[in-house]
Amino acid sequence: MKNQVLYKELAKHYDLVYHWKDYKKEADKIKKLISRYKKSDGKELLDVACGTGHHLSFFKNSFSCTGIDINNKMLKIAKKNAKKVVFRRANMINFSLNKKFDVILCLFSSIGYVKTYLNLKRTINNFARHLKQGGIVIIEPWFSKPKFKAGMPGMTTYDSKYIKIARLNDSKVKNNISILDMHYLIAEKNKGIKHFADRHELGLFDIKKTFNIMENFGFETKFLRGGLMKDRGIFIGIKSYLLS
Ligand SMILES: C[S@@+](CC[C@H](N)C(=O)[O-])C[C@H]1O[C@@H](n2cnc3c(N)ncnc32)[C@H](O)[C@@H]1O
Repeated sequence: MKNQVLYKELAKHYDLVYHWKDYKKEADKIKKLISRYKKSDGKELLDVACGTGHHLSFFKNSFSCTGIDINNKMLKIAKKNAKKVVFRRANMINFSLNKKFDVILCLFSSIGYVKTYLNLKRTINNFARHLKQGGIVIIEPWFSKPKFKAGMPGMTTYDSKYIKIARLNDSKVKNNISILDMHYLIAEKNKGIKHFADRHELGLFDIKKTFNIMENFGFETKFLRGGLMKDRGIFIGIKSYLLS
């Protein structure tokens, strides 16, 4: 099974698969969190694992925005969805942008893709390195192990005149990693029907352990249960004034 074709061959269908997502509503909620918790004065915002750039399209008029993602195909679409935003291809675990930000976002559970606690530590350290004093990081996590419902079949569909998509998924847990197998059937006008199988592996990080890692890297940390999606919560980390 190919790994993560959703972000490669299927990147052009990503926005259809997630057509139900209300990016404006999420961005409005994030803006409120930024106003409430950010202590630095500037307006430099970095969206890590920005995907197709929809959140950025709602931030670009009030912030100076940068987006990074590991996947070129997603970035190509993001450039169309969020004009006037700077995009770079980079891995969240080890990116180095030579710039500090007031806000770093890492949304829709993208943090899970780092898979291990060692990589989670590297990533959060990297977020801290790229933040100004008093700047904030907002992380929407993937599920913790007890919250992840392995083995439950899932289905997502998209239906329009010219393209129809059905995705069925199955999942399992191996050690501390959730493994999601997704099968896509895509029927497109004059293109017949294609089948893709896609595997995603995401770390099941414990909320308390993530909280402690953030504190260890100098963040005053909060976990808010009412996040963007009702089942995931959200981490807010404010970079301490004592660290440079
Ligand atoms: C579920 S999508 C979320 C996209 C976007 N943040 C959103 O909310 O719609 C996950 C994204 O993470 C990206 N990604 C996965 N691993 C990454 C890594 N190590 N560094 C940077 N981006 C990564 C994928 O390419 C994909 O665009």
